[in-house]
Amino acid sequence: MNNKKIHKISTLVDELPPSGIRAFFDLVLGMDDVISLGVGEPDFATPRHICKAAVFALENGYTSYTSNRGLKELLEQIAVYLIKERKIKYNPKNEILITVGVSEAMDLVMRAILDAGDEVIIPEPCYVSYIPTVKLAGGTPVILETWELPGFKVTAESIEKLITPKTRAIVLNYPSNPTGASYNKKELESIAEVIKKNDVLLISDEIYDHLSYDLEHVAMPSLAEMKERTIYLNGFSKGYAMTGFRLGYACGPEKIISAMTKIHQYTMLCAPIISQMAAIEALKNGLPEVKKMTREYNRRRKLLIAGLNDCGLKCNLPEGAFYAFASVETTGMNGMEFATKLLQQENVAVVPGEAFGAGGDKFVRMAYAASLSDIEEAVRRIKRFVGIS
Ligand SMILES: Cc1ncc(COP(=O)(O)O)c(C=O)c1O
Repeated sequence: MNNKKIHKISTLVDELPPSGIRAFFDLVLGMDDVISLGVGEPDFATPRHICKAAVFALENGYTSYTSNRGLKELLEQIAVYLIKERKIKYNPKNEILITVGVSEAMDLVMRAILDAGDEVIIPEPCYVSYIPTVKLAGGTPVILETWELPGFKVTAESIEKLITPKTRAIVLNYPSNPTGASYNKKELESIAEVIKKNDVLLISDEIYDHLSYDLEHVAMPSLAEMKERTIYLNGFSKGYAMTGFRLGYACGPEKIISAMTKIHQYTMLCAPIISQMAAIEALKNGLPEVKKMTREYNRRRKLLIAGLNDCGLKCNLPEGAFYAFASVETTGMNGMEFATKLLQQENVAVVPGEAFGAGGDKFVRMAYAASLSDIEEAVRRIKRFVGIS
């Protein structure tokens, strides 16, 4: 039955394109012997003591709802952790909200702050959810193209050029998915100056903060006068290898966090208690493993980037996260053609750069959240593919 009236989809949703990453990975499903440098999630299992805390929760009857904002102990642990590790002081009673991943937090913040037509500046290339969440909240994404900027990094000037009276917020993600770019304190301070001068909000997605190899990670809200202008987003998926636990958090001014909590209470109610119990353990005792995994990503990073450069695929050394964003221009193919043929001919999965922005057709993203031996084999296959060996 094709009932046009009752099956009609809202125009907003109908017009959203599907995620470029998922669309490409439908091709991978069902293929054997594929080395995947595709999906952006740690290949490490969640550390055992964190899993044990989840099992403890289940076996001891912690299977209920929690308060909307999250477990008091987790909120407090996050506050303690942020003071110690990131030099920012948030009040666990009213400045922190536990969410179902940074994904939910991003959606909540957009819905909490945007009215129809409000503009949000989004640097491209960027994580796939930013533009859809702005659109779904009725806002207008304004794209800041960083394709030609050194290291794909936004600068104060590039932001300032796009600010209009309708600008409500700017999204910044560092270390970045998909480029691995990050910012030192001086660079962040210069971005902060534009934010303050123009009285706009910064939405700072720092989910990869632990995975910083060359720079000490500086959190935006720790800079002078930035706490009141920043919604700080972080979570457990990447650093702690806890993607399936679906847990993140948002910190910021009480008024905005309350508005986000209002939406969260009607749409999500609360984040899963089992994951919250596991996250308490992660914050209390998880850092040594995070550091160990980071050291391992760093070894993989060096191996992959050296290999790509040997293949003539120009690639900046990523400063953080676990992605290499390589240009495929020298091959004469665009990113989609390169990724499709590499998959078909050599069984190596990478993501076409256009998944991260319209200007990405010369690039592919490769995640080095794969074992050293898989990366070595992937590089061998890419060399053969581009005709170097
Ligand atoms: C930059 C960025 N932000 C947010 C997310 C979503 O993370 P979560 O698992 O916390 O929803 C991802 C996941 O890949 C990401 O790369």
